[in-house]
Amino acid sequence: MQGLRLKGFSENRTITRQRERGKGLSAHFESSHFKESNRLVLDLTYAFDAPDGRPITREDMERIIPQVMDAHHALKEGRGDIYDGDVAMIGWQDLPEKIEKGHLDEIKSSTQELSSKIDAYVSLGIGGSYLGVEATIQALTHRFFNQLSRDQRGGAPEIYFLGQNMDPDFLRDTLDMLHGKRVGLNVISKSGTTTETAVVFRILEKLLEDNWGRGTRELIVVTTDKERGALRELARRKGYKSFTIPDDVGGRFSVLTDVGLVGLAMANIDIQEFVAGFRHMRKLCLTDDFWENPCLVHAALRHLAWLKGKKIEVVATNSVALYGVARWMEQLFPESEGHQGHGMWVSPSIYSEKLHANGQMVQEGERNIFETFLYLKEPDNEVSIPEVREDLDGLNYLIKQGIGMSHINRMVIEGPAYAHFKGGVPNISIEIARRNAFNLGQIYYMMERSVAISGYLLGHNPFIQPGVEAYKRAMFALLGKPGFEKAREEIEHELSRTKRIRI
Ligand code: PA5
Repeated sequence: MQGLRLKGFSENRTITRQRERGKGLSAHFESSHFKESNRLVLDLTYAFDAPDGRPITREDMERIIPQVMDAHHALKEGRGDIYDGDVAMIGWQDLPEKIEKGHLDEIKSSTQELSSKIDAYVSLGIGGSYLGVEATIQALTHRFFNQLSRDQRGGAPEIYFLGQNMDPDFLRDTLDMLHGKRVGLNVISKSGTTTETAVVFRILEKLLEDNWGRGTRELIVVTTDKERGALRELARRKGYKSFTIPDDVGGRFSVLTDVGLVGLAMANIDIQEFVAGFRHMRKLCLTDDFWENPCLVHAALRHLAWLKGKKIEVVATNSVALYGVARWMEQLFPESEGHQGHGMWVSPSIYSEKLHANGQMVQEGERNIFETFLYLKEPDNEVSIPEVREDLDGLNYLIKQGIGMSHINRMVIEGPAYAHFKGGVPNISIEIARRNAFNLGQIYYMMERSVAISGYLLGHNPFIQPGVEAYKRAMFALLGKPGFEKAREEIEHELSRTKRIRI
């Protein structure tokens, strides 16, 4: 039997775009037409007066504006509870304007050089040193990127992510994918001390050295703090090419720093367009007119939802490609808001998939849910549905109305937005015109600023993560890391008096 041929399908437009980017072709992202046709729209139709017993009302919104405006001005002026040690952690705020073209060109030329030497690129990192890079690459490339030919990938190497967990099977499986290939690594860690990243880096660095000896130097890139930390020292000693994470930008706010830019450039994503998206949204978010400022409206609504007893934010998308963005939000918001008993749990979801699972709970479960849709309007591809004579499934009506898959996929948001609202779940839609770097930049900046405002409204510093440090300390102690002897003693003492319950 011959293999399947895609009769009636033209080339996947995601692949066409990858090829175009590989040739250095870029969109006219500075034109006003481009900006207008890629405007992010915040649809608040179902945000107010949901029948849930404690609805968010328009009056609530009007009442909270002065408080939100105070937060907005404090952030602009760099005032308030924004310090980690003696560093004000708001470097991300003006970063879009500070990035110079020369720096982007340098990233592009370094990544091109590395790309020409390798078949597969491995990005090592966790949390903010991982999620944004993966989310953006997934959003803008083919779902099965690594299984495509290099030509279909637009010349980019295969791309893998490691260091985000300590599962030996996951590592081992990924190594099998790297077998026989020329491999390049980018180890990303601001602190340089994160165990998961460090352990996997040690394993891979040795593997590369065992294969290519001194040649390894050209295959490893380090992204870390400008001066401090083990990785910076390692880069110095071994002569690895290095990139920096600014002091005043925390991990989850770092996708526009070298943390994100290097990985995106490896995938041939237009980093200038990405920066342009950030710049555009920054401009919108600096305006002092509340209703014209998407960051403020977004922050105010989410805060009101929390005040009204919403403890879960379902972030649902109708685009598999954008699921990573929802996962990026799952880090940005809870790590910044989950302090002192505050915050909403973010639950990333792909619809329709999750509508047939916890969709039941969203519709009829406890009314403690707020919902945010990442609503992709125009997918890369349209797929039409064939008309069949028997029509046993009764779907011919779709064809008669000229409805293809993408229209149904829009209803996958429109339908739940209406039904969930009726069931008492206030919701908002963030309409994303299409999958491009500009739109990703816009979303990221809007969310970063929104969560910063949220910190002011909640009354705590959103730029630190003492809770994450707590798990790190406990793990170091249990692993017997030097320097953590006292903590180990304390834990062991406590455990010796605790009867383990195992049935
Ligand atoms: O947002 C944060 O600061 C964290 O999620 C960090 O990005 C994460 O803990 C990884 O830290 P590092 O880059 O120091 O390895």
